[in-house]
Amino acid sequence: MESLKKLNHYLKKYKGAAILGGIFLTGANFFLIWIPVLIRQTMDEVEALGADESAEFDSIITILFSSEAGAILAYNSLLLIGTVFLYGILLFATRQTLIVSSRKIEFDIRNTIMDKLLQLPQRYFSANRTGEIYVRATEDVGRVREYYGPVLMYTINTITRAGFIITMMIIVNPELTFWALLPLPFLSAFAYWVSGFINKYQLIIQEQYSRIAGKAQETFSSIRLIKAYNRIDYEQERFEEESDQYRKKKLKLDLVESLFHPTLNLLIGVSVLIVVWKGGLMVIDGIITLGNIAEFVIYVAYLTWPVASLGYTVNVLQKSLASWERIDEMLTEPIDILDDEKPAVEKKLKGSIEFRNVSFKYPGAEEYALKNVSLEIKPGSNMAIVGRTGSGKSTLINLIPRLFDATEGEVLIDGINVKEWGVQHLRKSIGYVPQETFLFSTTIKENIAFGVENASTEQIEKAADQAQVLDNILDFEKKFETLVGERGITLSGGQKQRTAIARAIIKDPGIVIFDDSLSAVDTKTEDAILEHLRVKLSDKTTIMISHRISTVKNADTIFYVQNGSIVEFGTHSELIKKEGHYSNMYQKQLLEQELAEI
Ligand SMILES: Nc1ncnc2c1ncn2[C@@H]1O[C@H](COP(=O)(O)OP(=O)(O)OP(=O)(O)O)[C@@H](O)[C@H]1O
Ligand SMILES: [Mg+2]
Repeated sequence: MESLKKLNHYLKKYKGAAILGGIFLTGANFFLIWIPVLIRQTMDEVEALGADESAEFDSIITILFSSEAGAILAYNSLLLIGTVFLYGILLFATRQTLIVSSRKIEFDIRNTIMDKLLQLPQRYFSANRTGEIYVRATEDVGRVREYYGPVLMYTINTITRAGFIITMMIIVNPELTFWALLPLPFLSAFAYWVSGFINKYQLIIQEQYSRIAGKAQETFSSIRLIKAYNRIDYEQERFEEESDQYRKKKLKLDLVESLFHPTLNLLIGVSVLIVVWKGGLMVIDGIITLGNIAEFVIYVAYLTWPVASLGYTVNVLQKSLASWERIDEMLTEPIDILDDEKPAVEKKLKGSIEFRNVSFKYPGAEEYALKNVSLEIKPGSNMAIVGRTGSGKSTLINLIPRLFDATEGEVLIDGINVKEWGVQHLRKSIGYVPQETFLFSTTIKENIAFGVENASTEQIEKAADQAQVLDNILDFEKKFETLVGERGITLSGGQKQRTAIARAIIKDPGIVIFDDSLSAVDTKTEDAILEHLRVKLSDKTTIMISHRISTVKNADTIFYVQNGSIVEFGTHSELIKKEGHYSNMYQKQLLEQELAEI
């Protein structure tokens, strides 16, 4: 009930169209029942003609071709055509109002979902599988639409059509009405059972289908790996297994579906049989006319679909509600990274950063990824973070643009808690090059200009130059218009990283974060990039995460992270003097370098 109320909320905007659609549909059904009435009238009039002038007309053929009968037929046919025409127009108008507004509501809901998804915290995406989120925005929305479209339409249809038809039937003869309607509840129950089965099976089949799609996607995105490891046969077998499961389930569904219509027709047949039998007896007794039997047979046929759709509608409604509940669950998920009620800070960022006793635990994780981290850096300084893999470096810098919020303690920028900054303003002022480079399947130009609206060509070229990727880009035939990703060329690891750096610095941010962003370039290119960045970013706060001492040795402060805590910090020479973890790491890398040079 609660869900229904929320669903109807979306209908509000289209209330006018929905009411109009209901009126059109009622009108259509009103004209529909005139069709059997006209047929009965024609039959009765022609029959009366035969009974009247029995001397002149001795066979049905002569009756039909007599001018009086011809007039009756022509007149009634015209009425019939007119009625059918009006019925058709009103049905068209119904679809144009009811179904069209259901599509509009679908559009509204889908946009609401997308809006919400884009605002949800990183936490939500760690906790939910991408596939499930995708299903929310696609299939679930489609099923909810069925509530506004088919469910609403069939319900109005069933009520008005059955109302009109049963009234007409009772007017003709209540007893015959009773007999004609007798098999219909069975029909409805049968349709309910079958559509329930179909729904359940469709869900199973859908899941199987997602598995096949997922398998195919995984296979093709790792095709190089599969070929290199010679796993083609193995992958093919696994795919065939999934495919076979799909086939079997689908065949079972097909069996039930193909039994549905014959059974439906059987039940209608029974109803027609009863009408002809009981009605025939009544005709003999002179209670009703022959035309009434024809009329009743058509009524029964007209009732079939609304009655069958009753069972179907109940099932679709259940499905719509289940889908809606899943969507609603997501829509009511709290967006905890949100500008608080008090006016958010939106001033220009100077770039001092402070962590005060910050601890952080990933949602659902047992252990803390950061433990009591405190650090402070001045605006415009260069900070570096080193430490072994998995020590918490990326986690630490994720707290600065509020991709996650600290579990305990606080993170301050320019002395103000990050939670008080306008979150959009904050993120706009921070250039962040994530550890895993992601480029969109579009041109290099658009990839670089991603964070700024209306970036000029000069801006883009300058950023590319500073990231040392300009020469590479100019070597491509289409230069900045070169497509990358799925339909374009594949950039080398280092080219990708440098494109991502260009994307971060084009924003002219106050703080720039490089998470292991030079790992895929050689030391010579790295030196050149760092040299350029030093000039370009001289007045900005930079944070550089790296596994290479050469990258970090010129930083103002180097922090050594181990197991989520800062265990050493200072300048390169201070840390070397300390002879601790950092110095250890330095000695090892020196040795490696010497070995490499031999
Ligand atoms: N989304 C997540 N959910 C749960 N645990 C996570 C998540 N992301 C990272 N972790 C865990 O947090 C710890 C720190 O990870 P983090 O990515 O910060 O390491 P790192 O120092 O950046 O390592 P690397 O040098 O390999 O990039 C690891 O134990 C990791 O498994
Ligand atoms: Mg990392």
